[in-house]
Amino acid sequence: MTPPIRRTTLGPPTDEAPAPVSRETSQGLATPDWQDPTIDTPIGQEAERAVRVLHRAKGQGLPRPPRQRVFTIANQKGGVGKTTTAVNVAAALALQGLNTLVIDLDPQGNASTALGVEHRPGTPSSYEVLIGEITLEEALHRSPHNERLYCVPATIDLAGAEIELVSMVARETRLRNALVSLKEHDFDYVFIDCPPSLGLLTINALVAAPEVLIPIQCEYYALEGVGQLLRNIEMVKAHLNQGLNVSTVILTMYDGRTRLADQVAEDVRAHFGDKVLRTVIPRSVKVSEAPGYGMTILDYDPGSRGAMSYLDASREIAERGSRTTH
Ligand SMILES: Nc1ncnc2c1ncn2[C@@H]1O[C@H](COP(=O)(O)OP(=O)(O)O)[C@@H](O)[C@H]1O
Ligand SMILES: [Mg+2]
Repeated sequence: MTPPIRRTTLGPPTDEAPAPVSRETSQGLATPDWQDPTIDTPIGQEAERAVRVLHRAKGQGLPRPPRQRVFTIANQKGGVGKTTTAVNVAAALALQGLNTLVIDLDPQGNASTALGVEHRPGTPSSYEVLIGEITLEEALHRSPHNERLYCVPATIDLAGAEIELVSMVARETRLRNALVSLKEHDFDYVFIDCPPSLGLLTINALVAAPEVLIPIQCEYYALEGVGQLLRNIEMVKAHLNQGLNVSTVILTMYDGRTRLADQVAEDVRAHFGDKVLRTVIPRSVKVSEAPGYGMTILDYDPGSRGAMSYLDASREIAERGSRTTH
């Protein structure tokens, strides 16, 4: 005899197609024994939510921007969520049908790790691109989790590039030149993940992109160093890249239980106005676990708050792009 079927609570009713798991059970079809106990467990609920989120994200899709958009993700403070934002916003856009590239410019290679892309020494990477040994196209690696998501990985060799670049011609414009040669693959969005410093790697990134995205952590000293970053951006703008513009600020690691987080968010909004995305990324253990599995949060736990907030952030970024022309 089939045990009575209880529907899980899924929050407010929606008009979306129900997830496959619940459709089967609610129609009372034969359900494998192993499935029943999970339906009303947190794991079962999570799986159901994940299916709904993915279904919606893939179904809605996002329009392609009129022109390719290139973002440099910069903040010379370490640990503020640059890499996490780069890979998760990129994965969210790719999931919604857009061709997306992440260029890893941090010798740590954290973005490459999170995208599940090989970055052992010797792998064709951003280092060889910057020193002119290979083209950007030759350094493209597809992320195993999404056919629209690509990465130019960073290997530890990049650690020497800051110094090697000093004596090279056109040392500040090497990434821009490499990016110009990349036509065929036609990426809609490119995100350049910077190291936590304001050296030549970050300058190359600032020269290569029209847009800067600054992640700011909702913590003590959040704005420390941002003044310096803004002055550097102005300098690059004056001498090397007139079109440079801080288009987007994103608040990361927000902890709603602390008054401090709200205070920081308020300060940042007062300072940057409508450049700040309405979506705030919550602090979540799942988000920090995902890279350990070579995954973005969109693959690791699509139904989580972290995944949903990065999906929301990606939509906001896409919407803004369709309003302003860069
Ligand atoms: N929303 C978040 N919730 C919890 N941990 C996070 C979140 N965003 C980032 N982290 C963690 O914080 C650390 C620093 O983030 P990371 O993106 O690597 O910063 P950056 O690239 O600026 O150095 C990492 O361990 C990352 O997993
Ligand atoms: Mg990083």
